[in-house]
Amino acid sequence: MKVMVVGNGGREYSIGLALKKDPNVSELFFAPGNGATPQLGHNVTCKDYEALADFAKENKIDLTIVGPETALVEGIVDIFKAKGLVIFGASKAAARLEGSKIFMKNFLSRYAIPTAKFIETSDAQKANQFIDTLELPIVVKADGLCAGKGVIIATSKEEAKEAVADMLSGKSFGDAGLGVVVEEFLDGYELSLFVVCDGEDYKILPAAQDHKRLKDKDIGPNTGGMGAYAPTPLIDDVLYKKVEERVVKPTLMGMKQEGAPFEGVLFIGLMIVKNEPIVLEYNVRFGDPECEILMPLLKTPASELFYKAATGDLKNLNIEFYTQYAIAVVMASENYPYGNSKPAEIIIDKNIHEGLDNTHISYAGVSLEDGKLYATGGRVLLCVGMGDSIKEARERAYLLCGQVHFVGKQFRSDIAYQALKHDK
Ligand code: AMP
Ligand code: GLY
Repeated sequence: MKVMVVGNGGREYSIGLALKKDPNVSELFFAPGNGATPQLGHNVTCKDYEALADFAKENKIDLTIVGPETALVEGIVDIFKAKGLVIFGASKAAARLEGSKIFMKNFLSRYAIPTAKFIETSDAQKANQFIDTLELPIVVKADGLCAGKGVIIATSKEEAKEAVADMLSGKSFGDAGLGVVVEEFLDGYELSLFVVCDGEDYKILPAAQDHKRLKDKDIGPNTGGMGAYAPTPLIDDVLYKKVEERVVKPTLMGMKQEGAPFEGVLFIGLMIVKNEPIVLEYNVRFGDPECEILMPLLKTPASELFYKAATGDLKNLNIEFYTQYAIAVVMASENYPYGNSKPAEIIIDKNIHEGLDNTHISYAGVSLEDGKLYATGGRVLLCVGMGDSIKEARERAYLLCGQVHFVGKQFRSDIAYQALKHDK
């Protein structure tokens, strides 16, 4: 089977790694890929999704897997399907679950799925009135896609009102902020649950935990994610069942009713408050860095999972996972997440494989020049460790971190701390 992965991050690299070891896969393509994906397949650049679909058709690509939300929100899946191609991802209509927070919150209300109390509006006065009824802190969100930066947690009413004004004026996020959601703050712990869906049936993947803040102990600015691990002990069978019954099933049923059956990966961002799951958000794609730990835990050939999901055949799949744990530690460049950094050569110690079984690197913001890899993106690469316990996986991931060097590298030293605390 010939498979193409759309995207250029660590997420797409990890999907590529899973496909590379899959006996059903004969050839791999990345569109556009990054500086390390040529180690796994061919990088392809096309001017738009139409051209990419033509490329897929001409090259007899059997399956395309879409990583990033922008491509989904822009309708890549609809374009490929119109040309009779098999593609794994959410349609443009279904991608509104991520593309518009207003659509998402109203959807949650329509189907009585638990979520934070909110108002959605483009009227500052209405937003301010609602702010006056809430306790601090207060959460203000821009409606559209803001690359993870459109959420403000305000510690005073004035700050919340200012955030609303800045968003509605277009000052903070352009058109993406012309509608806002204001909501109550939920105090609990966060979990990411990924559900592979074919519109009708679904498979829930092991729950993962991301670490969004830049620095240890969850301080510093929010980032795209600085590390993750799975499965997390912070969810048990009772909680899984609650999420399945109260969130997963009504979401799939609701999307069908809305005429936009959900195909692809549904990423449910949950806040667990007193053992009750509350939906913070949906994304319509794999999380990054969560994908980088879920892919190596997948025992079922990745091509089979994605192909069956893309062709409405999930009910005939018995999904299996390794009984191990996986941890990924993100190595970011010097100025992340504030700005770009000077390209820095990546040096990996030669003895990398000595004593470092069960580890690998997933490459993200890297480029290739004269045969050398350079750190050029914000999140540069992820050091992944696998093990029979979270502790073992973590030790391995950090051993690998010690062997990867580039000027200005920064990473958190406490990934999975909540799980280890929980285990004691
Ligand atoms: P979102 O893009 O909606 O997931 O928001 C980004 C991050 O902001 C989440 O991962 C949470 O850490 C935080 N957040 C969003 N909404 C809330 C809320 N209502 N209460 C507490 N934290 C929130
Ligand atoms: N790890 C969070 C995200 O991908 O949005």
